[in-house]
Amino acid sequence: MSKTGINFEYVSEYLQYVRRKRTGWLAEKELYWRNNGFPIAEPEVGDLLEIICKLKKPGKILEIGTCVGFSSLLMNQTVPDASIITIERNPVMIKEAKINFELYDKARNIQLLEGDAANILPDLNGQYDLIFLDAAKGQYPVYLPDIKRLLSSEGVFISDNVLFNGFVAKGAPDRHRNKTIVMRLDEYLKMLEADDDFKTVLLPISDGVTLSIKK
Ligand SMILES: C[S@@+](CC[C@H](N)C(=O)[O-])C[C@H]1O[C@@H](n2cnc3c(N)ncnc32)[C@H](O)[C@@H]1O
Repeated sequence: MSKTGINFEYVSEYLQYVRRKRTGWLAEKELYWRNNGFPIAEPEVGDLLEIICKLKKPGKILEIGTCVGFSSLLMNQTVPDASIITIERNPVMIKEAKINFELYDKARNIQLLEGDAANILPDLNGQYDLIFLDAAKGQYPVYLPDIKRLLSSEGVFISDNVLFNGFVAKGAPDRHRNKTIVMRLDEYLKMLEADDDFKTVLLPISDGVTLSIKK
């Protein structure tokens, strides 16, 4: 098994080896952020976001979990006309993301909402064509009803880190303090799969990603 506990190590290594790397200014920033410990989306999750953005051509995107703004900027670069709302609660990340949006989102299509997603989501209105959930894993079941309400018909919903190093599939965390996250992610995946309004596929890439469409 790989370090992430999702795929065999040789498969993970091959996927990284064969994958065509992004190029350009955002790819350089991406490398810097990744090498400096910022928890931005893994390369293949970025690829998935790019492909979905190209296919879906969303007019409105909602992201939960901004970090320094990498995935927002990647989606912005892929669909420049889309308006993006992204939510972040960590002041350190907010400060950094604001600088990055100021520098790189020249058209000002990205709006950063500061605060806890659990408080912000219930007050949001409108319909989003693409929602990307990449925040506190233990809260995923709490967010799901609002995400469903905010997702347009035939909208696409992506959630990251749902297998949490494979512990969710094993049904056992590595240590006691991760027990609640594992239980909540298991609950979340079962909620999503059981919901007739969604068609979902769970992809064993990165740390586990769901890709859903709202019927
Ligand atoms: C994995 S990072 C997001 C990475 C980002 N999507 C990217 O690829 O560039 C998760 C972020 O979610 C934020 N976060 C976690 N729980 C949150 C919450 N309840 N409300 C808002 N932001 C939250 C964290 O502070 C962290 O910056």
